[in-house]
Amino acid sequence: MTHSRIAGTGSYLPTKILSNKDLETMVDTTDEWIFTRTGIRERHIAAPDELTSDLATAAAKNAIESAGINVDEIDLIIVATTTPDKIFPSVATMVQKKIGASNCPAFDIQAVCSGFVYGISIASNFIKAGASKCVLVIGADTFSRITDYTDRSNCILWGDGAGAIILQASQEQGVISTHIHADGNFETMLHVPRKDNGTDTVMMEGSAVFRMAVNTLDQIVDETLAANNMQKSDIDWLVPHQANVRILQATAKKLDMSMDKVVVTVDKHGNTSAASIPLALDTAVRDGRIKRGEVLLMEAFGGGFTWGSALVRY
Ligand code: ACO
Repeated sequence: MTHSRIAGTGSYLPTKILSNKDLETMVDTTDEWIFTRTGIRERHIAAPDELTSDLATAAAKNAIESAGINVDEIDLIIVATTTPDKIFPSVATMVQKKIGASNCPAFDIQAVCSGFVYGISIASNFIKAGASKCVLVIGADTFSRITDYTDRSNCILWGDGAGAIILQASQEQGVISTHIHADGNFETMLHVPRKDNGTDTVMMEGSAVFRMAVNTLDQIVDETLAANNMQKSDIDWLVPHQANVRILQATAKKLDMSMDKVVVTVDKHGNTSAASIPLALDTAVRDGRIKRGEVLLMEAFGGGFTWGSALVRY
């Protein structure tokens, strides 16, 4: 059977930083409230002329370089995003054009904050089936474009960014297993309803979503370990979706894991939706924390609801 392994990682953050202090001048909030409730200090915001595909392209170039591959080797591009440049064409086809990849299929997937976990699941299954050998998987979002900056319970959470991996066919087992789920019954707890005037923005029942996220992530940890007959102690690193540091702490507790084994970027990035896991992964690979051969648990929960995990030997 053909396995798949992460050959390279990359990421990109827009230059502009929006700090909690900046938000104090925009809505009735404080740095202290935001940090205590979410763990966020600052987030990056795309420039007015910077599109999701620009962020995705920068992260992709970074991942291609780190994998040491030629662009022509890429035979599938998957972009997880909820904030495409336009309704169509897809961000994936714009990335294909911007990186100069030719003649490979390219498509977007929309699973909100779980998008990257869905992406790695689809990519590894394409490789397993023999349909692809070298897949560019990107998570990229510009949530600042669908954020209501007068809603203090919401606008403090989101940031913009992109992360990417190159997933290659391999004799060694890199991706150990992936698990993806959805339940559309919770549609209105976290959604972006259509408005007539085109100012569609995120609406969330924060506390209810928080409770659901903690319980569901608990279950996905059990499911992932049981599927592989593994123990909590077999996991070297938790690379979670970065929504709220208190959710990360709850999952770490479930895994009997100390917080120094959890990759935390939410303080500097906020919640970048589909970008948050690959951004965290690239951060910890580049600063030398995550090393080859270590076992990583990536997990996410997001709008839909959607949720899932990917267990990977890096
Ligand atoms: N500054 C000061 N006070 C605030 C702010 C703010 N920015 N926002 C809300 N408050 C107030 C509220 O008005 C409320 O006041 P009240 O008690 O007088 O009514 C009080 O703080 C508590 O509000 P809660 O909403 O209960 O606060 P909570 O502790 O739940 O934190 C938060 C809110 C941060 C949104 C949290 O619920 C959360 O992180 N939720 C989950 C987010 C998540 O995981 N999303 C899923 C992934 S995202 C995706 O898929 C797109």
